[in-house]
Amino acid sequence: MSDSPNMDQNDQKLAQATPNSDRPYSWFESLYAEASGNPERIPWAKLKPHPALMSWLDEQEFLRPGQGALVVACGLGDDAEALAARGYAVTAFDYSQSAIAWCQQRFDTSLVNYYQADLFSLPQSWQKAYPLVWECRTIQSLPLEMRSEAIRAIANLVSPGGTLLVLTHLRPDNSEAQGPPWPLSNAELNEFKTLGFTEVRRTPYTDSKRPEVEQVLIEFN
Ligand SMILES: C[S@@+](CC[C@H](N)C(=O)[O-])C[C@H]1O[C@@H](n2cnc3c(N)ncnc32)[C@H](O)[C@@H]1O
Repeated sequence: MSDSPNMDQNDQKLAQATPNSDRPYSWFESLYAEASGNPERIPWAKLKPHPALMSWLDEQEFLRPGQGALVVACGLGDDAEALAARGYAVTAFDYSQSAIAWCQQRFDTSLVNYYQADLFSLPQSWQKAYPLVWECRTIQSLPLEMRSEAIRAIANLVSPGGTLLVLTHLRPDNSEAQGPPWPLSNAELNEFKTLGFTEVRRTPYTDSKRPEVEQVLIEFN
């Protein structure tokens, strides 16, 4: 993780203590770096905010200027920018330093605070700190054995009474996850409930380019 104003010495030690062999997601950095600024080399890059996030924002009765929002694994930054445009005070992070540099280059006057950071060793000061957390397609991109830990790490970021939005591919319970990406089952999503969240709304999402993929936006609080 690069130095940040939100990072204390303990956080830095934690980031350094994790050996590379424990990071099966490090290939993401290679992918972004080797893309050399060509978004066509990033399979999930849309270069626009996710339509399900925009619909959710459009439905909100009140704008919340200045309210904190965290974007998990922000990729090329479009979702973070959309939240900032609606007045949220946005922090966005990604494991890939190249992705973060790309965001900063694309949005050079951005109000978003972009950081390179690893979901599995985030600063203590980020824990339970964000009234709104947006998680889009990160959990499903990680190996299955990291799933519970990823869910816990994301859940821990939401401040008491806050909202967690999860956009994910879905698979039937008791079916084998075929991937990557490896869709989540309802049983796995229930881990958020075990961690104290209530599912308040579930909205199906269909990507017209891949209508066969079952996707869902879940709002927890
Ligand atoms: C499928 S992409 C989705 C990107 C973005 N959320 C979107 O929907 O366009 C998964 C992202 O997770 C990031 N990522 C993977 N492992 C991570 C980790 N341990 N910590 C932070 N980001 C991670 C990758 O670098 C990549 O940008």
